[in-house]
Amino acid sequence: MEEELKQFYIDLFAPLPRCGPGSVETTRKAFSFLKSQPKDPKILDIGAGTGMSTIELAKISDGKIIAIDIIHEYLDILKKKASINGIDNIETVKMSMDSIEYKDETFDILWSEGSIFVIGFEEGIKSWKRLLKPEGYLAVSDMVWFNKDAPIEVIEFWDSCYPQMLELNEAIEMIKKYGYNLIANFKFQEDPDWWENLYIPLENHLPEVKKKYSHKKEFLAEIEFTEQEINFFKKYSNFYGYMFYIMQK
Ligand SMILES: C[S@@+](CC[C@H](N)C(=O)[O-])C[C@H]1O[C@@H](n2cnc3c(N)ncnc32)[C@H](O)[C@@H]1O
Repeated sequence: MEEELKQFYIDLFAPLPRCGPGSVETTRKAFSFLKSQPKDPKILDIGAGTGMSTIELAKISDGKIIAIDIIHEYLDILKKKASINGIDNIETVKMSMDSIEYKDETFDILWSEGSIFVIGFEEGIKSWKRLLKPEGYLAVSDMVWFNKDAPIEVIEFWDSCYPQMLELNEAIEMIKKYGYNLIANFKFQEDPDWWENLYIPLENHLPEVKKKYSHKKEFLAEIEFTEQEINFFKKYSNFYGYMFYIMQK
């Protein structure tokens, strides 16, 4: 990633409680569906960002967690948070999710909150499966259409920035197609905390970032896009939203 763009993302997301949608409660709820796993599972958190989910996984499991992300500055923040919390079972590795360099069947659990969109839901669940031990779990959150009979402006918006975004029934079919059992799935809308963790602080923080990048057209466009994303979510969240899927190999 180009240095200046990377710095922009760091300025945008590093000061927030997290870089993507979610909450301690959604992480805990998703984890509660993982019934048959070893006492000390080996977990890979993919696109961990500044690590709210990673820290929570470390607290609720006795496992060893590897957190990967392409922005090492996010991982540095994650490490600091872990150390403040007295957590020593997290390793951070700068690595891209499209070329994960671990052997087949290394992990009991793969975790990915709000990051699979980078390669798309289908590519993610397909290409990561080899990393799971037999009967291992993949827990993923991603944006889906609940009803694609939505106003054209919001369809066009998401088609332009996340063309692989699926309808809920398509995502469920895809999980079956790639040989997983869907153990559970739930909507984030049922947990108001995720809004507090992301869109509210982001909205408050945007003017500062806008000021810093006022001379940079491409970054201003990115900020406008983010404002649009928040506004659309306020208006149209009955048509789409974030979903957690817990599946087993
Ligand atoms: C929306 S954030 C989610 C972060 C975190 N899971 C959370 O919920 O707060 C997406 C994360 O994916 C990371 N990312 C983007 N492209 C990546 C890639 N190719 N490989 C690994 N991580 C990537 C970003 O740096 C960012 O931390």
